[in-house]
Amino acid sequence: MERVIESKDLLEAQSHVWNHIFNFINSMSLKCAVELGIPDAVHSNGGRPISLCELANKLSIPSTRIDHLRRLMRLLVHSGFFTCQKIKKGDGDGERDVELFLPTVNSSLLLKESDVSVSPFVLNMLDRIFTLPWHSLGEWFRQSNVPTAFEIFHGDHIWGVTKQNASFGDSFNEAMASDASLVGKLVASACIDTFCGLQSVVDVAGGTGTLARAIAKALPQVQFTVFDLPHVVEGLTSEENGRIAFVGGDMFEYIPPADAILLKWTLHDWSDEDCVKILKRCKDAVPPKEKGGKVIIIDMVMTSRESEHFKSEETQLFFDMLVMVLTPGKERNEKEWSKLFTDAGYKEYKIVNALGVRSVIEVYY
Ligand SMILES: C[S@@+](CC[C@H](N)C(=O)[O-])C[C@H]1O[C@@H](n2cnc3c(N)ncnc32)[C@H](O)[C@@H]1O
Repeated sequence: MERVIESKDLLEAQSHVWNHIFNFINSMSLKCAVELGIPDAVHSNGGRPISLCELANKLSIPSTRIDHLRRLMRLLVHSGFFTCQKIKKGDGDGERDVELFLPTVNSSLLLKESDVSVSPFVLNMLDRIFTLPWHSLGEWFRQSNVPTAFEIFHGDHIWGVTKQNASFGDSFNEAMASDASLVGKLVASACIDTFCGLQSVVDVAGGTGTLARAIAKALPQVQFTVFDLPHVVEGLTSEENGRIAFVGGDMFEYIPPADAILLKWTLHDWSDEDCVKILKRCKDAVPPKEKGGKVIIIDMVMTSRESEHFKSEETQLFFDMLVMVLTPGKERNEKEWSKLFTDAGYKEYKIVNALGVRSVIEVYY
C-alpha cells in the first residue's frame, strides 16, 4: 500500500529536492560574480559599504540592469559572500530603503590580486569543459570500457584536453597555481617542519611551480625541481640562481632523484593501480628513511563523522565526485592510502592534519 505522506513532510521534501535541483545556481552565481569583478569592487571601496548604484557604476553595468544586480547580490549575501545593511534615505513621501553591501572573509578569497585568491579556480572548475561531462555521468555508469564521464563527453582524457586546448590548459594551470599559492602559504606557516633538513625536493606533477616557489622562499637552503608534462613546463626557465629548476617528463617513466618527492593534488587523479606505479617511481627516486628520504603527499584523507579530524563531509564528498567525473582517481580514506603505500613497498607513513580538508602525508621506506 502506498504510504500517505503528511502535507507538511511533503512540502519539506519538495523544498529539499528543489534545493538540490538548483544547487548549481550557487555555483553559477559565484562564477558570474567573479567574472563581473564584484568582489574586487566591494572590497576596494575604501572600507565603506557600497550601494548598488556605485557598484553598477564601478562594474560598467547599465542602469537597466540595477534591479537584476540587486537580485544577484541578494543571493550572494545569502551565500555568505557579502553582508547587506539597509538605511533610510530621503524623507516624507520620498523616503526609501537603500541597500549597502560589505565584504566578508569568504569574498576576500575571490579578489583577483591576492596570494590567497581562488578566483582562477572558480572560473576554471566552472568552465563548460568541466561542467558539461556531468551530463554524461548516467551514461558512464552503464559502461565499463570508458574510464571517465569526461572522456565520454570530450573523447579524450583531461591531460589530452588541457594539452590540445591551450587556453583551457592555461586556465587549468592558473587554477592549480592559485590553490598552490594558498597551500604554499599554509605549509610555510603550519607544517614547514616536514621540509626541514631536506636539501633537494622534486615537486612531481608540480604544474608551473607555484608551490615550489612558496616553500623555497621559506627554506632558502633547499633545491627544488618542478617536474610536469613537457608542454606544462615549456618556456619556464630556472629561477633563484638555479635553486628552482623545471624539468619536463612523464612521471610513469622517470622521476628525477632528490631527498624528497612532493606530490600535491596528484594521486587523487589516478586509479589505485597507477598510484602504485607512481609511488614505486618515487621510491626509486628518494633514499630510505635512515638516509633522510621521504615522499610528501598533499591530498585529502577522507574522514568519518566519528573521527576527531572530521572536517567537512560535504566538501570531501564533492571532491570525490569531482575526481570521479574528471579522472580515473578517487579521494581515499586512511585505510586506502595505507594499502597503496604497502603495495608500493613503503614501510611507514605519518599523517599531519594541518591543511583543513586536506592533509600532509609523509611516507618512508
Ligand atoms: C591536479 S594538477 C596538480 C598540479 C599541482 N601539483 C598543484 O597541486 O597545483 C595535476 C598535474 O599533473 C600533471 N600530470 C598529468 N599527467 C602527468 C604525467 N604523466 N607526468 C607528469 N605530470 C603529469 C598535470 O599536467 C597537472 O599539472
